[in-house]
Amino acid sequence: CRVHLIAAARPNFMKIAPLYHVLAEQPWIDARIVHTGQHYDRNMSENFFLDLRLPDPHFHLEVGSGTHAEQTAKVMVAYEKICSRRSRPDWTIVVGDVNSTIACALAATKLWIPVIHLEAGLRSSDRRMPEEINRLVTDAISDVLWTPSPDADENLLREGVAPERIDRVGNIMIDSYEMMRPQIEAAPGPRKFGLRRGEYAVVTLHRPSNVDQRETLVSLVTQLHSTSAYLPLLFAVHPRTRKKLVEFGLWASLESNPSLRLTEPLGYVEFMALVSAARLVITDSGGVQEESTYLGIPCLTLRENTERPITVMQGTNRLVPSHLLTANVQGVLRGEWAKGMCPQSWDGRTALRCLAALKRRHEAMVATH
Ligand code: UD1
Ligand code: UDP
Repeated sequence: CRVHLIAAARPNFMKIAPLYHVLAEQPWIDARIVHTGQHYDRNMSENFFLDLRLPDPHFHLEVGSGTHAEQTAKVMVAYEKICSRRSRPDWTIVVGDVNSTIACALAATKLWIPVIHLEAGLRSSDRRMPEEINRLVTDAISDVLWTPSPDADENLLREGVAPERIDRVGNIMIDSYEMMRPQIEAAPGPRKFGLRRGEYAVVTLHRPSNVDQRETLVSLVTQLHSTSAYLPLLFAVHPRTRKKLVEFGLWASLESNPSLRLTEPLGYVEFMALVSAARLVITDSGGVQEESTYLGIPCLTLRENTERPITVMQGTNRLVPSHLLTANVQGVLRGEWAKGMCPQSWDGRTALRCLAALKRRHEAMVATH
């Protein structure tokens, strides 16, 4: 059984890693990694392959950056070629909600290659987010929907998806963490940055809604400066954000603030070591909302909505309007935050459940052909 695992951007690499390692051990599975090249900087791509002990991708589509239509189209054209050659897979597995997710799902399904979407069913109900469009379309055209939590199943059923298409497998990001736990616990963490355990916050920002407009980004940077007066910040800067900070003339002010350490995007192990030891995290990332809930670290999410409401309802996450950031940080420092609990089946066994579901579905497919 030949399986393609599609990986494109930073949040995809840690999602495919535990699944790849489990699939690669099975004699009946030929698992191949297709890297679309949506992210290409060493610290947004290659370093994750090293950290997560992934082999070099079996196929590299090298699409790079572009407008949404350009990037999606380039991935579709390139992936269709791979599928049409002798390397046609029996299954294509796409993860998450990036442009390459929708592009590979669309290219594969039109070639009658069955598609599985891992992390299906998440919804922010905010169609201004490009990821929400990617999620809706990918789920509509995928054959099998592997969901992380009950709210995802409910969203799909509400949209009229037949229950037979859904397998609740749990949250694969937790498998990534558990797989790398020994390395994360052995990493230097905050010491490397002159910070002390429990006495700093990790910051990540990259949503276009936060960083692409000057006015919004100026306001966020102002809030980060005032927050850093209460709690030192470690800001791992995404390339989109760095570009905008430089363009809007905000980079120098951040660099000159001694309570605010700026870094390049960090490797998975180093980043998770810093999150695990943080007092809190400030983010607009999807993955970080989940990781902080799992680790019981307070998370302030600078967004109006989230496709991961379980992290707010059950976990440590709070949606915060950017002008209230400092007040919320002070609240957390006073102890005003929900300790939360870990959602069901976020247990590090998701890749095994995916394997079992794939086996069942593959046998059923072979039996009907
Ligand atoms: C993408 C995903 C987003 C995901 C994020 C994770 C889409 C629509 N967006 O957003 O869902 O949360 O990745 O990090 O799929 N750039 C570099 N080097 C790189 C990659 C990007 O310099 O390796 C710069 C380029 O200027 C590029 C910009 O970042 O134009 C944005 O990259 P892009 O992949 O389009 O979107 P992200 O903001 O990274
Ligand atoms: N991450 C990392 N280094 C960083 C920032 C993030 O290793 O400097 C990891 C972290 O595990 C996070 C994941 O990358 O959950 C997803 O990243 P991102 O925020 O880019 O994507 P999103 O989850 O918002 O799509």
